[in-house]
Amino acid sequence: MAYKVTLIPGDGIGPEVTSAAVRILEATGIKFDWERYDAGAEAFDKYHEYIPKELIESVERTKVALKGPITTPIGGGFSSINVQLRKHFELFCNFRPIRNLPGVTTRYPGVDLIIIRENTEGLYSGIEHEVVPGVVESLKIITEKASTRIARWAFEYAHKFGRKKVHAIHKANIMKLSDGLFIHCSRNIAKEYPDIFYGEHIVDNTCMQLVTNPYQYDMLLLENLYGDIVSDLCAAFVGGLGLVPGANFGSDCAIFEAVHGSAPDIAGKGVANPTAVARSGILMLRHLGEQDAANQVKYAIHAVFQKGKHTTRDMGGKASTNEFADAVVAAMEGEAWREQAASETNPV
Ligand code: NAI
Repeated sequence: MAYKVTLIPGDGIGPEVTSAAVRILEATGIKFDWERYDAGAEAFDKYHEYIPKELIESVERTKVALKGPITTPIGGGFSSINVQLRKHFELFCNFRPIRNLPGVTTRYPGVDLIIIRENTEGLYSGIEHEVVPGVVESLKIITEKASTRIARWAFEYAHKFGRKKVHAIHKANIMKLSDGLFIHCSRNIAKEYPDIFYGEHIVDNTCMQLVTNPYQYDMLLLENLYGDIVSDLCAAFVGGLGLVPGANFGSDCAIFEAVHGSAPDIAGKGVANPTAVARSGILMLRHLGEQDAANQVKYAIHAVFQKGKHTTRDMGGKASTNEFADAVVAAMEGEAWREQAASETNPV
């Protein structure tokens, strides 16, 4: 049997890193039937639509997509394709595991954080207007339904995977109603999980606390914008954006994509790091129930970093995107990963 999966290569470094990730995923022996669609500016040139309806129909059918980054014009132009897809499919949970890779030296060894970002509302509602010339308004939408849903997801994850603490991150001292509702819902859900520590920190203090001592946190539960910003901050703990994977989960379907964007500064050069997308692929394999294949890719990536010979430029190495992928495929030989997988629960 082959899994039907929608493949959205994206733009910028997207096509380079997704094709490397596809090669790594296929090397597990799992069969995929990829339904490939462009989205964004390139799709518009071809189909006169930023998100072709065939792409939407494909995700409705397959329920699973692997996606590269898509460029969003700044200060004008079309609204984010990424945000539109998350809203269209109600992918309310953005899951981002932040974890050091063996062999990657950073200022903070041994970081193991899970970021849970609400993915459908907040300031990403995109409701903006000009009140009078020179005055604009951007509305932050927070609902009880979405806040309760994301808090429940976070606590359920903590419960299922033995995580010890959840901190809700907010600015309810200033946004008393919107962020106030977010933490009110988080508190209510926390009461149902007495074995999991629940804390609340204000977002600016959280940034300082993270940089001072990231080990004090276990899982961070954030509304949309704070989740976006804090994710990039935390990516720096473990070696940068080239490494950190992500998943967008809804109740019906899921789209797997890295935290990073389209990196126009290095696009087309064949030097981008495909690790983040490949690790998003690991999360996809777990979602499909293919735990062995997921562990095979996970520990092959660990082995490549441990040896340190085939890392990409962002990690201080010289390997191209494809050379890194070749090294990961070669590291999949053998069964050593089975023993390693038995002793830990971190997904990536
Ligand atoms: P970015 O994440 O694309 O790049 C930030 C820095 O990290 C750059 O120096 C880049 O070279 C580096 N970097 C990122 N991924 C890398 C990789 N795999 N390997 C090596 N280096 C990597 O963020 P930026 O520049 O703010 O955004 C560029 C575009 O991407 C924007 O249009 C933005 O809207 C879009 N974007 C799209 C996302 C998505 O599709 N999910 C997420 C974030 C941004």
